Amino acid sequence: MTTTGTTTGTTTGTTTGTTTGTTTGTTTGTTTGTTTGTTTGTTTGTTTGTTTGTTTGTTTGPATAAVRAVGTAHVRVEGREKVTGAARYAGEIPFAGLAHGWLALSTVARGRIRAIGTEAVLAMPGVLTVLHHGNAPHLETDYVGVLGTRPDPTCAVFQHDRVPHLGWPVALVVAETPEQAREAAEALVVDYEPQPHDVDFTAGHPDAYPLDGHLPAVTDKGDLEARLAASAVVLDVEYTTPEEHHHPMEPHAATARWDDGVLELTDSNQGATWVVSELANLFSLDPASLRVRSEHVGGGFGSKGVRAHQVAAVMAATALRRPIRVVLTRRQMFTLAGHRSPTVQRIRLGADADGRLRALDHRSLSRTSTVYEFVEPSAGVARVMYEADAHHTENRVVRLDVPSPTWMRAPGEAPGAFALEAALDELAEKCGIDPIELRLRNEPDRGPVSGLPFAGRNLRACFEEGARRFGWAGRDPRPGVRRDGRWLLGTGTAAASFPAGAGPSTATITAEADGGFTVRIGAADIGTGARTALTLVAADALDVPTDRIRVRIGDSAFGPAMIAGGSMGTRSWAWAVTAAARELRERLVPGMDVPAQGITVRSDTTDAVAALAQKERHSFGAQFAEVAVDPATGEVRVRRMLGVFAAGRIVNPLTARGQLTGGMIWGISMALHEEAARDASSGGPVGADLAGYHVATHADVPHIEADWVDDPDPDDPVGIKGIGEIGIVGAAAAVANAVWHATGVRHRSLPIRPDRVLTAGRGA
Ligand code: MOS
Repeated sequence: MTTTGTTTGTTTGTTTGTTTGTTTGTTTGTTTGTTTGTTTGTTTGTTTGTTTGTTTGTTTGPATAAVRAVGTAHVRVEGREKVTGAARYAGEIPFAGLAHGWLALSTVARGRIRAIGTEAVLAMPGVLTVLHHGNAPHLETDYVGVLGTRPDPTCAVFQHDRVPHLGWPVALVVAETPEQAREAAEALVVDYEPQPHDVDFTAGHPDAYPLDGHLPAVTDKGDLEARLAASAVVLDVEYTTPEEHHHPMEPHAATARWDDGVLELTDSNQGATWVVSELANLFSLDPASLRVRSEHVGGGFGSKGVRAHQVAAVMAATALRRPIRVVLTRRQMFTLAGHRSPTVQRIRLGADADGRLRALDHRSLSRTSTVYEFVEPSAGVARVMYEADAHHTENRVVRLDVPSPTWMRAPGEAPGAFALEAALDELAEKCGIDPIELRLRNEPDRGPVSGLPFAGRNLRACFEEGARRFGWAGRDPRPGVRRDGRWLLGTGTAAASFPAGAGPSTATITAEADGGFTVRIGAADIGTGARTALTLVAADALDVPTDRIRVRIGDSAFGPAMIAGGSMGTRSWAWAVTAAARELRERLVPGMDVPAQGITVRSDTTDAVAALAQKERHSFGAQFAEVAVDPATGEVRVRRMLGVFAAGRIVNPLTARGQLTGGMIWGISMALHEEAARDASSGGPVGADLAGYHVATHADVPHIEADWVDDPDPDDPVGIKGIGEIGIVGAAAAVANAVWHATGVRHRSLPIRPDRVLTAGRGA
């Protein structure tokens, strides 16, 4: 069938009905006019062909028969800009009159600054100033920020002469060029009065104490010791995980400048409004006089909030009245970007002979600095995952002379699920029960600690689908019996969970005169594909094709919004975009002309998200891994991985798969490679670079697949739960459990390095 011609005119009215059939052919022509009205109906069938032509005019009014964008694969809307290099990141955006700051970091792990040799470096070429505790402005640090946290003193720079860890910022040298600033900063002589330091993190440290973080420190139910004593099967094991670092591809970078009374920061962060609020607090400024922009961000993983470089840049820009850029080097990031604390976790499980848990005890120790309290709440995951009559969880910290740790992808859940899910595997072995069956026997119907109902807990479906696709049925449970040449083969599994929350956000949408829609929201796309996801959400909410949507993000001027964190970004922003779209559609009455300036509506989800019912709300998943272990070299290779998740409605399958497999690859890395060594004598990191700190690279990544089961959140306007962090949860345990299955040896300390495999293999 071929249609050629011109259609001109106006169509008004209502179309209701059902169209079924097949249309094949070519449509060429021009359509001019106005279509107003309501279309309701169902279209079933197949359309094949080509449509060429021009459509001019205005379409207003809802049509409910459109193709849904959410759930369909969509390449990143800014992908072309990124791969062609047109997308510019914070450290490469030019400014007239730009000067460069370079941070000088302490070379002692504890002590006092006696003197700073500023005079010599001020005489060096291009040097403009040196900021330090003797001349820096006062910062206000007595506040609780928008995320409920107090400021980390490592970021509130140059306030006193004390040095609490190696790599503490002691000065900012500002010069005309980055090379001049760096040379001067490295030439800066700082005279310290050193004091003895302690960076020795050990189990049973006498100074450890329970600490609340974003979760309470302790939960306690039932008589643990009695239940353990009465259990047919008891497990008492200790796991350790090392200090780990986030290190996104794009190092931290910021340019600060004053422009007509407004402090502008061009930055790389996980939330522009978050950075505004922290800087406003620190510098006692009206938030309305700050603007933070971060259009493209090359990864964050929890490390990109307010850090020393932004604060130092603002100080220098204020002092010199020039735009000042400060970037961190990869090496500086090892002390200034936060990190994941090492953990020691003791787990005690008591079960009936059939594997039903009667007692569960998960105690985690992590490390923080002497100047800031941050807890890696690894024991929290047990509060969600498994029920037992006696149930105890506890997160403790010890303060040492180290940089402050911070949130790092799945803070708590990542190390916590390694320990807990490895322990479940050990219990399965002791009980002689399949590890999946053991978990399913212990599926709770309410929050094990909270007693609250789950807002969807589709873990069973994940295990069933995962087992089918991975080929779990018929697995020989005996360890060390499968071989492929010199390689010992094994398979392992683990469960995953991560909280599914939402934070208040505002969004505006403008209906443009040309028929397009501009969405503005203070969101951050840290590489997750958030901008693209919001394009799909807006297209559906407005019932228009995605090419009529333009999403603008990464600007605090767009109003307050949730950060790209806590796996809550996309969900929180989608909520605000949906709410604004709903209101806009009410405003766009059929037949109305959109004025030149457009029609703009603003949403605010503060009340809506606060009304989320009190429930246990999480994403879940089942991780599977197959490994090969070379007993002669101790090398472990992951051969394949599969993760099946129940993580709410998946907005964009293309980027969602990348987000989930990215987390799983990090799990491989966590299981086998990542470990930051800290030198006891200097107190500093050893090999603070990506040559010494090993992360999984292409050769380490095998056949890896992520998929999901249908799991929309009924209380979310789009059905989203969030997939930011769950991919890493349980992934390292699945690998470690597979290593046991291959070798018969339990590795309870990460990473499972070749030397550890060899030592264990020799029975040492
Ligand atoms: Mo994530 S650790 O909340 O950026």
